[in-house]
Amino acid sequence: MELTKPDILRYLSVDNEDEILELFRIADRIREKFVGNKVYLRAIIEFSNICRNDCRYCGIRRSARIRRYAMKPDEIVRCAQYAEDLGYGTVVLQSGENSLYDDKIADIVRAIKETTNLAIVLSIGEKSYEQYREYRLAGAERYLLKHETSNSELFHELTGRSLDRRLQCLRWLIELGYQVGSGNIVGLPGQTLEDLANDIVMFREWDFDMLGIGPFIPCYGTPLENNPAGDPVLTLKVIALSRIATKNAHIPATTALRTVMGDDKSHVIFRCGANVVMGNVTPLEYRKLYRIYPGKVCIFKEPEEWLNDIKEQIKDAGLRPSGEAGHSLKKTWIKNSMKLLSLG
Ligand code: 5AD
Repeated sequence: MELTKPDILRYLSVDNEDEILELFRIADRIREKFVGNKVYLRAIIEFSNICRNDCRYCGIRRSARIRRYAMKPDEIVRCAQYAEDLGYGTVVLQSGENSLYDDKIADIVRAIKETTNLAIVLSIGEKSYEQYREYRLAGAERYLLKHETSNSELFHELTGRSLDRRLQCLRWLIELGYQVGSGNIVGLPGQTLEDLANDIVMFREWDFDMLGIGPFIPCYGTPLENNPAGDPVLTLKVIALSRIATKNAHIPATTALRTVMGDDKSHVIFRCGANVVMGNVTPLEYRKLYRIYPGKVCIFKEPEEWLNDIKEQIKDAGLRPSGEAGHSLKKTWIKNSMKLLSLG
């Protein structure tokens, strides 16, 4: 089934329960056929909440008055080793956008590669082509950089930055042979269903390896604190439609969606097209300060306890938890990596 934009728009607006459930069933079948029955577990380390950007939705925006932290490189490496001990096959290194680590990332990546078998995902924002290249050659295989919304005016209004620049970064990352993840926020103030349909069309056109799709959650201390949260059912529809449109992309049950739905409802998300989930392994003292939005489900549970819970939920959904690296199923990154290696 090749969805057209009008099809996508229609599905986004249906409110008849039978039709919604039918959409989720189709997405579930496509997930089974194109990515199988494993749910990949990824560990995330939120290593710094220092950010130069001032995105109106985000709790760690520059002007938020919160305590800031920056983990030391050896602390980050030890934390990654701990993630491997817990059984994870992939570690995501995420931080606010800052330049403090620009000349440290490659060493951190190499140290993790030398001491573990982990696949490494970077999620550290907009950098130069040269920096992306350096980190890729150091061994980082994947990069997450959400485009947040494909509506360029809204993107600019909410982030103070340019969507063109963000898309240029995504193009560089693809060219450098990263497995690239983008994604959006559902229910941003001022966002329309047509904007969401455009996001989904874009996911298909760009053929991203990964897609992070989560609802907007208002955060106190930000300009959008009094706006309503994104609707979880609408978010599930965007996930389902993105699964149908992209077939084999890795799509997580995002922390934001699990926060809005309750972390005991993750099994539902795994039956609407999602096939990945991230566990937080950030040391507790820092985890509390990485408050992008309030109520984040990961804050209180210890990593071991959370892992046991989520594995049960994955089995409840009839699926299998996997600690394998779970690389992208798409071919572009392999081709582009070969090109990079023969050059570099
Ligand atoms: N609600 C939902 N998602 C948010 N993000 C940042 N702030 C919020 C919020 N208030 C998401 C962005 C970013 C990711 C790390 O967190 O999509 O890419």
